[in-house]
Amino acid sequence: MFSVTISDTGTEINQKEINQKEMYKKISFLGDGARGKVYEVEKDGKSYALKDISKVRLDDSEILTMKFNLEIQKNLDHPNINKVFEIFEDTFSIVAIMELCQDDLYKKRKTLDRKEIPNIFRQIVEAVLYLEDKNLIHNDIKLANVVMCNGIPKLTDFDRVESYICDKEGKTNMTGYEGYEYYMAPEMCRNGYTIKINSWQLGMLLYGLLADKYRPVNIEKNFYQKYTRHMDGYEYVSKNAPSIPENLKENPLAYDLLSKLLQPDPNLRPPVREILEHPYLK
Ligand SMILES: Nc1ncnc2c1ncn2[C@@H]1O[C@H](COP(=O)(O)OP(=O)(O)O)[C@@H](O)[C@H]1O
Ligand SMILES: [Mg+2]
Repeated sequence: MFSVTISDTGTEINQKEINQKEMYKKISFLGDGARGKVYEVEKDGKSYALKDISKVRLDDSEILTMKFNLEIQKNLDHPNINKVFEIFEDTFSIVAIMELCQDDLYKKRKTLDRKEIPNIFRQIVEAVLYLEDKNLIHNDIKLANVVMCNGIPKLTDFDRVESYICDKEGKTNMTGYEGYEYYMAPEMCRNGYTIKINSWQLGMLLYGLLADKYRPVNIEKNFYQKYTRHMDGYEYVSKNAPSIPENLKENPLAYDLLSKLLQPDPNLRPPVREILEHPYLK
């Protein structure tokens, strides 16, 4: 199991250094998402990415979780995971200093050379496998959370990372949905799902790269919160699972891998380790 050392006060973060943020000179705005704004910054002649998470709409337990999750990312060491160097906070924000990258895959997807896709995808699969080996799940794998660093893809945004345990049958202790609703594996609507939800999310990522459609499933916004108690969400999401576009048949290997990953029945879907064996990634 993976663990992070935390002090009595909650985290390793040094709260005294209130003006630490000012030591980083803002150069440009790089991007934002649901929680953070990311800037290119400079300190002592070196460039970094600075993620600024506003505390304004977060309660105390959410603030603690955000800090804890950044500590997890800081403790990871993999070439395809965006490195976090330092974390600190002031009255209004939690701040992470990270390795500077360029565009995320969502912004880059239209200009990507299709020949690069298997190589990019394989590296993200390796990052996800590294996390699985530490019993960690990212929970929010999507194009906007993969940044490119000089041609190397790196998974980032660990805001929803979770540590899990599995029983003898491989069922995890995770319940309920975390992350991007449109990338939700159908079985997440039922309790006792396995870590094969990662293979589904990776399938969605590959779909986003190959089919150039970010939201392949046709499900209603906030469906998970609204309906799962009243209907069989598994049937609903399975029925609305993306059909693989016919033009992808031009590339039979990509088509084959995508069909296997976006298989609604988790028993028929390959685990992450097997994805690496697929000829499309060789
Ligand atoms: N290290 C980085 N280098 C360059 N751009 C980044 C970096 N990290 C994040 N970004 C950009 O900022 C966006 C938001 O960052 P992210 O960590 O996903 O925040 P949020 O939690 O708000 O979604 C990303 O989609 C990407 O465009
Ligand atoms: Mg994000």
